Amino acid sequence: MTPLQSPATDLDIEARYTWAKSVAQQAAQLGMDFYRRRNDLTVEHKGSDRQDVVSIADKQIEEFIRAELTARFPEDGFLGEESGSSHLGARCVWVIDPIDGTACFVNGLHNWCVSVGLLIDGEPHLGAIADPNHDELFHGCLGRGAFVNDTPLTVSAAQHVREGLTGTGTFHPRGKEHFIPFLQQLLGEGGMFIRNGSGALMTAYVAAGRLIGYYETQLKSWDCLAGLVLVREAGGRVNDFFRNDGLLDGNPYLVACPGVYDQLAALIGPSLDG
Ligand code: IPD
Ligand code: CA
Ligand code: CA
Repeated sequence: MTPLQSPATDLDIEARYTWAKSVAQQAAQLGMDFYRRRNDLTVEHKGSDRQDVVSIADKQIEEFIRAELTARFPEDGFLGEESGSSHLGARCVWVIDPIDGTACFVNGLHNWCVSVGLLIDGEPHLGAIADPNHDELFHGCLGRGAFVNDTPLTVSAAQHVREGLTGTGTFHPRGKEHFIPFLQQLLGEGGMFIRNGSGALMTAYVAAGRLIGYYETQLKSWDCLAGLVLVREAGGRVNDFFRNDGLLDGNPYLVACPGVYDQLAALIGPSLDG
């Protein structure tokens, strides 16, 4: 017989929430130190996609977060973009993007952040997204709401895509066919798109009501896990991102306020949750 799991409330969620906010902010300050001397950083390209870049800053920030986690919650699991995973069978698994928006970072654009998310028993439970360029810490925890710094977040009240801005994004290996038709239809409905280069920040902006929705043809879990919690807590809807090994492989991604979610999903078509 499988032993019953204790409820998540038996875990010290408060301590983990406090730690997530703190480590995200410390990591973001470390990021700022690198960002100020970005012209000295060596930039590498991942695989054959010349747009997919990484620097020593990404690697060292992830090392910092991973070492802090090992010291504070050694029993927890870890999944990071740069250094892989450990203890994925643990009840608490942290999902980390040390810099989301690296292409912006290396080119001197301010749209980048540190994203720290926590899964408990396979469900997104809390998240912290630190944007040091704008002194904004987006954070949220299941059942406790979502915030930017101390201000509560609520998604947009828009009822149609023409009433606001929709975040979008793609990357070359996914192919244009999932992106261009969506843009054509969005524009045809009187909507407008924006791509700022950081999936985590655009997700946080949906939670904050700054964007009415955000569609990306394919994201990885570290790009969006922290933000998903915020969107849900702010009253928004999210697609079935974790299906078919989404945690490790990624999936198409949609978050939106309730008034436009179905409209955006229809514009994207069956590839969204197919
Ligand atoms: C990228 C950003 C970008 C998205 C890419 C991601 P990275 O993450 O989230 O907005 O379009 O697909 O890979 O590489 O800057 O961590
Ligand atoms: Ca990312
Ligand atoms: Ca990254």
